[in-house]
Amino acid sequence: MDWGKKNRLSQLFGADGKCFYLPIDHGYFLGPTNKLEKPGETVAPIKQYCDALFATRGIIRNCIDPEDSLPLILRVSGGTSVVGGPLSNEMLTTSIEEVIRLNAQAVGVSCFVGTEHEKQTLGNLSELVNLCEPYGIPVMAVTAVGKELEKREARFLALCARIFAELGASVVKTYWCEDFEKVTEGCPVPVVIAGGPKCDTVREVLEFVHDGIQRGAVGVNLGRNVWQAENPPAVARALKAIIHEDRSIDEAVKIHDEMAGK
Ligand code: 5RP
Repeated sequence: MDWGKKNRLSQLFGADGKCFYLPIDHGYFLGPTNKLEKPGETVAPIKQYCDALFATRGIIRNCIDPEDSLPLILRVSGGTSVVGGPLSNEMLTTSIEEVIRLNAQAVGVSCFVGTEHEKQTLGNLSELVNLCEPYGIPVMAVTAVGKELEKREARFLALCARIFAELGASVVKTYWCEDFEKVTEGCPVPVVIAGGPKCDTVREVLEFVHDGIQRGAVGVNLGRNVWQAENPPAVARALKAIIHEDRSIDEAVKIHDEMAGK
């Protein structure tokens, strides 16, 4: 692997090969999402526990201090909104020059397998890999299910993950599901777990993250379950304990509760 790509990947994973990405990209189709109205303020108390941000260029340029930023995974697909046509109808939104200018360590693109825009969005991934490879920039492929949350099961997610790796993704982001090893075992590149809508309890979040990591995930890309929580820094600290410190669920809950004053 090229030195530059190795160097970028090393900034996205700890020395243990694990990662905790903080996505704040939701506004690209949802608008000013609850608790993400001012992304800079959302990130400030949490970022010390995270390894990278996942965000669009507009939020990076306007809300994140370039002299005090985490490594960046730039969200480069979009062009749809929650009030418009199908969310799957995405295009690539950001040029390779802009990716380089922003000094992104990686880029992220959504793919909507099993939809009318399957070919278009897998084409976006392929085109992005072609654009990024000459510069040694890793691509994270995002398994997107739009509003069809029931698609989050092992057979479908394993199919998506494998296709993304075959098309050249360096990292795959997918949802946690039962039998998660079926997803990781069939995917030859690192798999990170996305969160989805907020869970009812912090323990539930820690449980699915713990299970996913035991079954081969290298980390998480978790947004709403962190920054929409009652105490975001406590959740982030507890997640770090599971991801980077190999702590049990009970230990992580204790870390959370002590920090949250419970
Ligand atoms: C939005 C995304 C988000 O990065 C992803 O869904 C993770 O965030 P959350 O944990 O809130 O689901 O790709 O399209």
